[in-house]
Amino acid sequence: MSDQSGFKVIPSGSACGAEIQGIDLGAGLDDENFRKLDAAFNEHSVVVLRDQLSMSPNHHIALTRRLGGVDRYTFTEHSHPEYPEILRVSNLMEYAKPLGNPKAGHTWHTDQSYVEKPPRCTTLFALEVPEKEGVVLGDTLYASAAAAYEALSDDMKKHLDGLSAVHQFSARKRGDGKNKELTPKQKADHPDVVHPVVRTHPVTGRKCLYVNEGECTGIIGMGDKEAQALIDQLSHHITKPEFVYRHKWRKGDLIIWDNCALQHLAVLDYAPPLRRHMHRTTVQGTRPQ
Ligand code: SIN
Repeated sequence: MSDQSGFKVIPSGSACGAEIQGIDLGAGLDDENFRKLDAAFNEHSVVVLRDQLSMSPNHHIALTRRLGGVDRYTFTEHSHPEYPEILRVSNLMEYAKPLGNPKAGHTWHTDQSYVEKPPRCTTLFALEVPEKEGVVLGDTLYASAAAAYEALSDDMKKHLDGLSAVHQFSARKRGDGKNKELTPKQKADHPDVVHPVVRTHPVTGRKCLYVNEGECTGIIGMGDKEAQALIDQLSHHITKPEFVYRHKWRKGDLIIWDNCALQHLAVLDYAPPLRRHMHRTTVQGTRPQ
């Protein structure tokens, strides 16, 4: 049902995800509609706002600030030259150089789990979406780590209680499956961090699995073999189809996703001359508890 302002939440029917109607970010967002957007985001973990083409980079940055403050990304080579708060995710080229990161998120992950305070959420705004013979490509998949936790057996929940995992920046894989090469400074700036295997959502209190195959390299107090087997088992469990919402992008979509309650994956099923161009921001978060 929509309220008098036209605000409406349409759940995706999957374990996460909802479309929000009645908001035009280019025309401004009053406090009441912001509160409702924030509440819908916390409830559904990933929200989609269609047709936001009148949203300027400044509107986008203002929304990011309102959601909790701009979190600057580790790699600045893909930052927007005029708006450093915005990272470009893009396969376009300019003067023979990539305009943005063409390989962001092509393995299941949650953003920047390898820092002490990973971002609360990420926003992604579609400026160009690849399409071939009427079929939209370059979908993004979102898996509910909260629903995945809730579906575990009581024995497994007990087993995970109190466990912590090591998240390693240099373990991150690129879309081609290779590790990203880091400068000595990047390595020094990112010591390993330890986060709970099950973290509690800071707003909803829901418990969420916080283990991903990309960045987790060990479990405190567990041998390597046993730890790797558990990381693999949990990573596989989280991304089962019953926990996944698959988003088919349209130009003008703005998506906000929750980095505590979800993992996500960008599908690399397109290549130039097909064009995909997105603006991304990240919102400051808190230390996982
Ligand atoms: C990301 O993981 O940040 C990128 C997601 C996407 O491009 O769909």
